[in-house]
Amino acid sequence: MDRIRIRGGKPIDGRIVIGGAKNAALPLLTASLLTDETLVLTNLPRLADITTLTHLLVQHGVSVTMNGAEAGEERGHVLELSARRIASTTAPYDLVRKMRASILVLGPLLARCGEARVSLPGGCAIGPRPVDLHLKGMERLGATVELRQGYIHASAPKGLVGSEVVFPIVSVGATENLMMAATLAEGETTLVNAAREPEIVDLARCLAAMGAEIDGAGSDRIRIRGVKRLRGTRHRVIPDRIETGTYMMAAAITGGAVELLGAEHEAVAAVARALEGAGVEVSETPRGIHVRRRNGRLTGVDVMTEPFPGFPTDLQAQMMAAMATADGAAMITETIFENRFMHVPELCRMGANINVHGASAMVRGVPKLTGAPVMATDPRASVSLVLAGLAAEGETVVNRVYHLDRGYEQLEEKLAACGADIERLVGD
Ligand code: EPZ
Repeated sequence: MDRIRIRGGKPIDGRIVIGGAKNAALPLLTASLLTDETLVLTNLPRLADITTLTHLLVQHGVSVTMNGAEAGEERGHVLELSARRIASTTAPYDLVRKMRASILVLGPLLARCGEARVSLPGGCAIGPRPVDLHLKGMERLGATVELRQGYIHASAPKGLVGSEVVFPIVSVGATENLMMAATLAEGETTLVNAAREPEIVDLARCLAAMGAEIDGAGSDRIRIRGVKRLRGTRHRVIPDRIETGTYMMAAAITGGAVELLGAEHEAVAAVARALEGAGVEVSETPRGIHVRRRNGRLTGVDVMTEPFPGFPTDLQAQMMAAMATADGAAMITETIFENRFMHVPELCRMGANINVHGASAMVRGVPKLTGAPVMATDPRASVSLVLAGLAAEGETVVNRVYHLDRGYEQLEEKLAACGADIERLVGD
């Protein structure tokens, strides 16, 4: 298995092109199931999760054609997806277990075919992650949902019917699944306490271009008027705000300066506020965002994860790595997932001083981290160890690199181009 080796202590300095957002791309790919016409997605990141979901779509009968980077500004991959005929409405365990986002085929299949059989995703490294809100939402739209032998069996032979769906807690995935299902339902659906993430807005924009009637995406109340059919379109995926935030932290932790090309400030405003409080300058440039640590060490700041527009859970581990070297203490509270502190023991092995009390971690900054062999079990925890390694004295080897490959495109190339001493050690 591949590993990443980092020799720390060099400030990150230069420019990094931000790729398309993984978490926007995944629901957009499943939206291809809603139409018998071709959906073309551009600016897709080249990531293992995208490949996994593509395999699932092919299994449902979607024909997927891959095109290279486009001319001009278009740098990402381009996929053409045509679900002319749905060959199977079953999402099997072997594919779903590789990636939880596979649950996002449920809404589109149910809406288009009146039935879907999707393996129940199990727990994962960051918590039990139930899908009850997705299922209750589909029932509100008139589907019958049963759980048998590890599978969700959902059916609505006469089609879905619009309704009001009130989410008791904010869920990105459930909002996306229900929004897609409602586009082909009869009548109007209102999603109340909907997620407001930029990825939801991007999905709504694509669905609207496909002919869906959607108002209010980006607010906590989304209204969808069902239409008889959707058509194909061409859609460009938004820049990845989590990749953006990760490189903002890389500049912060190493005392460097980077310009993140294509990054959108509004999508990382909460992250910029937190970093500014810690002594980092964040400014908008004509081409993206510029991030530079002011002289001296970072200052400890408290951070609490929240649904958008709050500080994202997907940047909590990276922020913790940065705070591990700050002057003073930082309380980091995780409110979205119950088990998202697996990076803590690994950061401590690198000399960090962190104590977890329930949902909060008290980080007492130390002047220097030291390199060590480390590993983690999800993309964000893994990248936090890479960041810590960039700032640490000596050599860090991050194992289980496939987690990084799920979430970060060309991580080591992008960092090395900015002066980091980082390389991939290719294993068996
Ligand atoms: C999305 O996951 C992202 N994944 C996650 O990205 C991200 O961490 C998360 O949103 C929160 O921002 C994708 O977009 C593919 P949720 P999702 O439903 O949709 C609970 C990454 O590293 N919940 O908003 O699965 C759930 O357990 C990742 O890229 C229920 O209780 O997250 C959690 O505590 C991992 N019942 C909370 O809601 C449900 O039916 C928010 O989860 C659904 C969710």
